[in-house]
Amino acid sequence: MKFATRVVHAGLEPDPTYRSVIPAIHQTSTFAQPRVGEFVEDYDYARSANPTRAALETALGELEGGLGTSFSSGMAATHALITAVCSAGDHVVLPADLYGGTFRLVDKVLTRFGITYAMVDQTDLDALAAAVTDTTRLIWVETPTNPLLNVVDVAGVIERSGSAFVAVDNTFATPVNQRPLELGADAAVHSVTKYLGGHSDTVGGAVVVRDPEVHERVRFVQNSVGAVPGPFDCFLVHRGLRTLHLRMAAHAASAEAVVAFLREADGVSEVRWPGFSGMVSFRHPDAIGIAERTKLFTLAESLGGVESLVEVPQAMTHASVEGSDAAVPADLVRLSCGIEAPEDLVADLRDALAVA
Ligand SMILES: Cc1ncc(COP(=O)(O)O)c(C=O)c1O
Repeated sequence: MKFATRVVHAGLEPDPTYRSVIPAIHQTSTFAQPRVGEFVEDYDYARSANPTRAALETALGELEGGLGTSFSSGMAATHALITAVCSAGDHVVLPADLYGGTFRLVDKVLTRFGITYAMVDQTDLDALAAAVTDTTRLIWVETPTNPLLNVVDVAGVIERSGSAFVAVDNTFATPVNQRPLELGADAAVHSVTKYLGGHSDTVGGAVVVRDPEVHERVRFVQNSVGAVPGPFDCFLVHRGLRTLHLRMAAHAASAEAVVAFLREADGVSEVRWPGFSGMVSFRHPDAIGIAERTKLFTLAESLGGVESLVEVPQAMTHASVEGSDAAVPADLVRLSCGIEAPEDLVADLRDALAVA
């Protein structure tokens, strides 16, 4: 079936008790056992498993083409995958342009547990091949990258990965535009806070892997660390997922109009848009002034919701990479184009730029 059909139905079976079309939100911490060790499926305690979460995990797995596990944030998902795959002494290849929190996790937390890393511009596949060593256990790909929106050739990375595990942060592309497992990657990771949830009303994360044995390890970390999403958050993400294909088309239409305007606007340089999704970045000497003057584009971190957001990465989302190889320019503005009327978004930017 086509993606649009799968996304509407993914993970949804009528409730077994009352046949409600949308399954219940199982807002519970535990499950009654008629006898010791007797319970339905694997539902004994809600950190280990919860039916609302299981429905979302099934949906995420269906859409990315693998086995899904949900987390309480994108960072919890990233942490779970890296710790499920890597051990002390392992080497990780990171992109030189990536979400600041991912860099911080590896650089400030995981290196204390014996993980080493190198950063490389992954659009340069020769440089990537040179960065892979005998101890490289994981190649972490982010594409399009946050915030510079570089697109990495996932299949090209896989060809040069040797025996390393390849994980792709698919947050910006979403499975509408890119399905890493179909391209040969071992895992897709998401901040479902963004496009998958799509309404800026919850924080969450997901890991989808191909190999059942890796899936078991990810689930083991999920249960051991316990960074699980609550049932209501799972419900919200699952509800958001059902319009993902429509929203992504509208985000792209907004971005296309915004990019056409910015490419002609005075003082604006290096307008970047991968040609899909709603993420746009550009440089302007008055980056902070523009971000503070827009009215429809709310000045806020995050992205991927139906409403438009603007931010200055160097001062906001990417403050943690300042001084590292992943540092971003101070005059960079990042837009998350929402699904409002594109002409209203352009008018808002025109007004904000007019004063600059
Ligand atoms: C590409 C990318 N990956 C991961 C994350 C982390 O996700 P979360 O904020 O849900 O922990 C973010 C957050 O902005 C992101 O942009």
